[in-house]
Amino acid sequence: MIKKYRIGNPIETDSVITSIDIENSPIPYFETASDKKELTFKMEKKDRIYGLGETVRGINKRGFIYTSNCSDDPIHTEDKRSLYAAQNFFVLWGKEKGFGMYVDTPGQVSFDIGYTDKDTFSIIFEDFDADIYIIRGGSIKDIVKQFRGIIGKSYVPPRWAFGFGQSRWSYMNEQEVRDVVENYDKLNIPIDSVYLDIDYMERYKDFTIDDERFPNFKAFVKEMADKGIHLVPIIDAGVKIEEGYDIYEEGIKEDYFCKKENGENLVAAVWPGKVHFPDFLNEDARYWFGNKYKFLLDYGIDGFWNDMNEPAIFYTEDHLKEVFEQLKDYEGKNLDIRSFFKMQDIVGGLENNEEDYRRFYHDYKGKRYRHDKVHNIFGYNMTRAAGEAFERLSPDKRILMFSRSSYIGMHRYGGVWCGDNKSWWSHLLLNIQQMPALSMCGFLYSGADVGGFGADVTEDLLMRWVEFAIFTPLFRNHSAEGTRRQEFYRFSETDSFKNIVRLRYSLIPYLYSEFMKAVNSDGMLFTPLCFEYPDDDMAYEVEDQLFVGESIMVAPIYKQNATGRYVYLPEEMKLCRFRSYDDYDVEIIGQGHHYIEAELNEILVFIRKGHALPLAVPTDRTEKIDYSDLKYECFECDEKDYELFVDDGISR
Ligand code: GLC
Repeated sequence: MIKKYRIGNPIETDSVITSIDIENSPIPYFETASDKKELTFKMEKKDRIYGLGETVRGINKRGFIYTSNCSDDPIHTEDKRSLYAAQNFFVLWGKEKGFGMYVDTPGQVSFDIGYTDKDTFSIIFEDFDADIYIIRGGSIKDIVKQFRGIIGKSYVPPRWAFGFGQSRWSYMNEQEVRDVVENYDKLNIPIDSVYLDIDYMERYKDFTIDDERFPNFKAFVKEMADKGIHLVPIIDAGVKIEEGYDIYEEGIKEDYFCKKENGENLVAAVWPGKVHFPDFLNEDARYWFGNKYKFLLDYGIDGFWNDMNEPAIFYTEDHLKEVFEQLKDYEGKNLDIRSFFKMQDIVGGLENNEEDYRRFYHDYKGKRYRHDKVHNIFGYNMTRAAGEAFERLSPDKRILMFSRSSYIGMHRYGGVWCGDNKSWWSHLLLNIQQMPALSMCGFLYSGADVGGFGADVTEDLLMRWVEFAIFTPLFRNHSAEGTRRQEFYRFSETDSFKNIVRLRYSLIPYLYSEFMKAVNSDGMLFTPLCFEYPDDDMAYEVEDQLFVGESIMVAPIYKQNATGRYVYLPEEMKLCRFRSYDDYDVEIIGQGHHYIEAELNEILVFIRKGHALPLAVPTDRTEKIDYSDLKYECFECDEKDYELFVDDGISR
């Protein structure tokens, strides 16, 4: 049962697509004080909070404060309140009661879940305007399903997007891309896609190709396609200011860029230097920008990633002027501790400055809004521009799309990746813990940069990371400029990498099937143990094992030098300790805690009683998977007990 309540005069976000009447009664569970812009709830000892999508810390969100304020922040330490996403849905589940809540507001909102006061949950609004949905149900899964039912079906990528993708900031030219594919093919490590980061563009201009690096892009896309490889270019939110650049000139002519209060276009800076931001909230601008993807579709491109769409801002022209002015006070001075750090703050404060988000406006649904009031739906609407355009431009064929910034509603147009993580063991755990919350919010096609984006990876971390990432729909190895190269073929145990990535390809029929079932039934792909076993108190304590689809539980290893780990089984299961598709041992393990060994190249997969896991013969490309030749690993059932979802993987 879902009830809708309204606070103030909220700005529509188009995230909920079902129309629900607004209740006249006060919002249940929560109290409001007349002088405060917040809702408060007294938590009981056993109350746990799940959801909020892509945020830091564990699966149960209690004990910290999370602020929905889409941020370009590459340091995802546990003290960070905001990452790239704003996904304001959670379920509070306690001993006696449970409910779900969706806080629909495009502005900033904080979820203080026992941070200020250990037992108080406060939702603190920047502007006290929101639509609040309260969802009651018999279980966490039931509440999630009801919520998903009102926000519309999740985005479905082409099946090849379940294959492995290799990325780097950046492969600088055709030959580098060719080498990547050749190296993978030579070692029989499967691969379906290579990502093109910003340097494929001419001076970082969206919808251009640098023709020195890619002199015959059309032929190159075809050459790769003939090998079964999809090239996936990045698209950034800022449009370079440059006379003669068609996107810039059209945007100026049609007035599609975000404006300052005085009516001039905002000048911000990102990769290309000075840019304007298309007003993605404006329907016409969205239509126009969406059509621009045709430039690349016409080359045969069939996948994209949308980036820097919080939006990230290095500086605005206006703020930079102010900073140069302020710095004059420091020139020639003997800077002491205070003045030196103050000066550093002035310069450091240029990037992604909150003040800058108040310098520009949007023309949204016939009204003008200052950016900060609608900040959290900017990236969403960039991806919506693309998603809506793909329906027009590619009506028969699915196009891969995922975005860095997101808001609920965007899950209908694309997936997400979890941004600029680091090659840290703690970020492998973060990846594991973010997946269920993303599932809850409808972001089923998701994953993190495997191996970590920033910092230098080590071979063991990369291998352990791959061992988890073979279960995430988006399975992409990506890393930053200046860091150690982390393509699998650069390490010593290439055979192990090969076997693990090939196991992923064996799992694709299952993963795709479970993904599609989750889409069609508004279900989850990654499920914490307590969602499945609500009566098992111990299941609530486990935050590093997940069910993936209906048949399996994974227990990834995320600690340096570990040769095994403790695993909790809520009931008897069948362990498959995989080294490869045809090399694994099997053991029945009883309910309870166990220390289970797993060498560096071994993956722990537990099959649930009465369930089966289909496995395909490994191939080097997703489209070569032979669905007529599946073997089933079953536990007290047979293969007929598994319902395999199959389609052509490409038509809409
Ligand atoms: C941003 C993206 C990252 C990309 C880089 C260069 O940091 O998050 O994935 O590689 O920009 O485009």
